[in-house]
Amino acid sequence: LFAGESDFLKGVVAMDGMPPADRVEVCFAGRSNVGKSSLINALTGRKALARTSNTPGRTQEINFFTLDGFYLVDLPGYGYAEAPVPVVEKWQRLLKAYLSGRATLRRVFLLVDSRHGIKAVDEEIMALLDSAAVTFQVVLTKTDKPKAGALDAVIDKMQGQLVKHPAAFPEIILTSSAKGDGLDLLRAEIAQFA
Ligand code: GTP
Ligand code: MG
Repeated sequence: LFAGESDFLKGVVAMDGMPPADRVEVCFAGRSNVGKSSLINALTGRKALARTSNTPGRTQEINFFTLDGFYLVDLPGYGYAEAPVPVVEKWQRLLKAYLSGRATLRRVFLLVDSRHGIKAVDEEIMALLDSAAVTFQVVLTKTDKPKAGALDAVIDKMQGQLVKHPAAFPEIILTSSAKGDGLDLLRAEIAQFA
């Protein structure tokens, strides 16, 4: 796993456009601009497999990538996005339908910016995953940004928030796509579902 090539399969804009649920998949969810697409590129070692941007709202479809026998799924962000309101609402509905209704979804990696911690919109998605009984694991992104003390404070607070969520996997993974930190740990976590 991760030794083989990863390829873009398709971008989906409606539930009926999903590829057949015939293999295991894991997805990357999180607020707009948190670094979901960058993490997919860093994990697969492909610089431009998933499109990234400074502009929140870059990813507007559910993007399926093949990796050996399973799927990596890059989701549109939730929360603020630089796109027209009806468009954002449409992709938010799709995102929620996918997160709560995809039979082969084994784990949601819920990305949180290491400078900002868990926000109200994250809580809303976590509650959705609790009710759908879909296990999620928090992945802190951009750990190259905060100072060490600030990062510890964010982690402490977050541990208290996560115990309230029955669907939360307790271990938090710290990553930096820019520096390459935490990627092996995350790869190992993903590999157990393959
Ligand atoms: P949407 O598709 O709009 O929801 O965004 P996204 O979550 O896919 O974020 P994306 O990967 O496009 O990255 C957003 C911005 O954060 C880009 O400018 C990236 O270069 C930057 N970024 C991503 N990962 C890191 C990181 O580990 N460190 C730093 N310093 N910047 C990062
Ligand atoms: Mg993206």
